[in-house]
Amino acid sequence: MKPSTRSLEGKRFILSALAFILFLCALASINEIRFDSLLKFGRCALSNLPSQSHNASSEISAASNSSSSDDIRILIGILTLPDQYQRRHFLRLIYGTQSPAGAQVDVKFVFCNLTKEDQKVLVALEIMRYDDIIILNCKENMNKGKTYTFFSSLPEIFNSTDRPYPPYHYVMKGDDDTYLRLENLVDSLRPLPREDLYYGYVIPCPSMDPFVHYMSGMGYLVSWDIAEWIRESEIPRNNLEGPEDKVFGDWMRDGHRAKNRYNAKWSMYNFPEPPTRCTHELWPDTIAVHLLKNQDKWIHTLKYFNVTSNLKPSKLYHIP
Ligand SMILES: *[C@@H]1O[C@H](CO)[C@@H](O)[C@H](O)[C@H]1NC(C)=O
Ligand SMILES: *[C@@H]1O[C@H](CO)[C@@H](O)[C@H](O)[C@H]1NC(C)=O
Ligand SMILES: *[C@@H]1O[C@H](CO)[C@@H](O)[C@H](O)[C@H]1NC(C)=O
Ligand SMILES: *[C@@H]1O[C@H](CO)[C@@H](O)[C@H](O)[C@H]1NC(C)=O
Ligand SMILES: *[C@@H]1O[C@H](CO)[C@@H](O)[C@H](O)[C@H]1NC(C)=O
Repeated sequence: MKPSTRSLEGKRFILSALAFILFLCALASINEIRFDSLLKFGRCALSNLPSQSHNASSEISAASNSSSSDDIRILIGILTLPDQYQRRHFLRLIYGTQSPAGAQVDVKFVFCNLTKEDQKVLVALEIMRYDDIIILNCKENMNKGKTYTFFSSLPEIFNSTDRPYPPYHYVMKGDDDTYLRLENLVDSLRPLPREDLYYGYVIPCPSMDPFVHYMSGMGYLVSWDIAEWIRESEIPRNNLEGPEDKVFGDWMRDGHRAKNRYNAKWSMYNFPEPPTRCTHELWPDTIAVHLLKNQDKWIHTLKYFNVTSNLKPSKLYHIP
């Protein structure tokens, strides 16, 4: 082939690639009749102009997800300890098999500085493989401010300019013995405000009033502006010691925060055994089950919610 022919063909290829991308963008925005779809269309077309460093495949998948800026973005930080390798492995199965529609839910494991040589290898390998770990600048502690360090570190950790703002609409603090059903969580959040929100299972157990007193550590969620307030305000900084979830409620009260509150009881509850005033039987309308302290309780719960019913049939295995 002569060089001139080749460059002509190259131009023709780029032109048809461009036309194809514009077509994809049009498809992506076709059912959005809002004003911002025009903007989105422009952004989509621009961000997908061919350049040497991009592959066609990555461009297409990004284009087909261009509407995802409408998704609810949720960060779930599961506070745990570096040595809990098995627990993290298990929870990756639990959350890696849930993909709620119309939402971006990032589950991350959160702990303080590593202290042992083997952790430096094993945790680094986990990060290389899963990239779902946040190591805070703190020394492992209970009731001495790990929760504060978690929330107050987030605005800086996620403040890069190439992310949308807020990076997450909501931030949740979760427990490693809580089973969260992400689709139900997301559905419950859709109608709620995205500012000044404090959401969870209100303590004491019989209380149904989210303003009295605070949300249980099984899993509570706040809007991003509250994480920013925790970072900036003196009130949390000067009140770190004590049971972390209760102290969190004190910050909200003392700082006159969380005008919007949502009590997710009785979609969130403790495992039915032992029976207490904080539990009831498992039922379909469930967002979280807490106190899954052993494998039997986990298995019982996972079976109840039919989590493996979508296993695809295959000649490779048979599970009766
Ligand atoms: C292009 O594809 C190659 C191999 O599939 C991958 O290694 C590379 O990261 C991709 N580049 C971009 C910009 O996505
Ligand atoms: C686009 O969304 C699909 C499913 O919604 C997902 O599997 C895929 O990884 C996403 N692609 C990108 C680039 O985010
Ligand atoms: C945690 O580790 C970082 C980096 O290794 C160090 O600078 C920091 O002082 C440590 N923080 C605590 C509380 O030990
Ligand atoms: C992120 O936060 C740090 C510390 O607060 C600040 O120095 C930096 O400029 C911020 N970066 C962006 C992109 O906002
Ligand atoms: C699990 O599946 C069974 C059998 O199909 C069904 O009767 C039950 O309602 C399902 N449970 C839940 C919580 O969806």
